[in-house]
Amino acid sequence: MNVKTRIDSLRKKVDRSLDRWLPSEKTRPVSLHRAMRYSIFSGGKRLRPVLTLAAAEACGGKPALALPAACAVECVHTYSLVHDDLPCMDDDDLRRGRPTSHKVFGEGIAVLAGDALLTIAFEILAETKETPRHKLQDFFVELTSAAGSSSLIGGQVADIEAENKSSTPQDLLFIHRGKTAAMIAASLRLGAMAANAPLKEVRALGKFGESLGLAFQIVDDILDVTQSTESLGKSAGKDIAAGKTTYPAIFGLEKSRKEAARLTNSARKALAPFGDRAAFLHALADQMLNRTC
Ligand code: IPE
Ligand code: IPE
Ligand code: MG
Ligand code: MG
Ligand code: MG
Repeated sequence: MNVKTRIDSLRKKVDRSLDRWLPSEKTRPVSLHRAMRYSIFSGGKRLRPVLTLAAAEACGGKPALALPAACAVECVHTYSLVHDDLPCMDDDDLRRGRPTSHKVFGEGIAVLAGDALLTIAFEILAETKETPRHKLQDFFVELTSAAGSSSLIGGQVADIEAENKSSTPQDLLFIHRGKTAAMIAASLRLGAMAANAPLKEVRALGKFGESLGLAFQIVDDILDVTQSTESLGKSAGKDIAAGKTTYPAIFGLEKSRKEAARLTNSARKALAPFGDRAAFLHALADQMLNRTC
């Protein structure tokens, strides 16, 4: 199976499960459930849940074992996008090729739909079957710490506080680690845990995810400068307009590209203990580096 077909097949598994787990549009309050589904089923790349399922496979487990964790991760990610787009944060009108949640449903419902996506993530995660090595509590600690004030939320805070200020490379690293790399690393670690992987493998995949996540955000920053709104499905050129601290802003495009390639390379080195079992993860890392949206 080629990489694209494999990604599509995992993505479909995730979509089917999310459809099962999210309340229907007819469930009251209808506006809230419509808004949750609007943002979840809007053509996201599903990169994080695909990484979760791929990590489980690399550790010798069936992807189905990791589906609750994969869907939970996507719900946290989608909530973070809904809130990231709000007028009080990045103030964006377009996401995943469609008007942002607050543009369609109003700010109040968008905030609450984000809250509800974050909350349902843990309801879904609770469907995980614990393994001899990893208790259910460990899965919760993993996701809460990646989503919490020292990681995703902390990174988002540092990101908005760095607007229109001169920042150091260390500040930038703090932002990227928090807002992006932590969740990507957790996506992989959760997949490994669902497959009952030994701690050594969980850690190796976490290391892979940290470098991969840093590369991913650098590429996101590069694409904001180099791609069109149409191809991104979100407004291009918004980082410069908002005075964001980004890789291209501090280092320029050429150095940013080199750094993304270097980090992807170093991520791939962390996969060494897996040998051939990690072929698909290697391919995913390359795809993430070379993506155009
Ligand atoms: C966007 O993430 C936010 C970042 C962390 C850069 P993705 O590029 O994975 O967005 P979707 O899920 O495909 O819409
Ligand atoms: C957002 O980073 C990261 C999140 C955790 C939501 P950006 O603000 O650069 O993401 P986009 O470009 O709006 O997708
Ligand atoms: Mg942002
Ligand atoms: Mg944004
Ligand atoms: Mg961006």
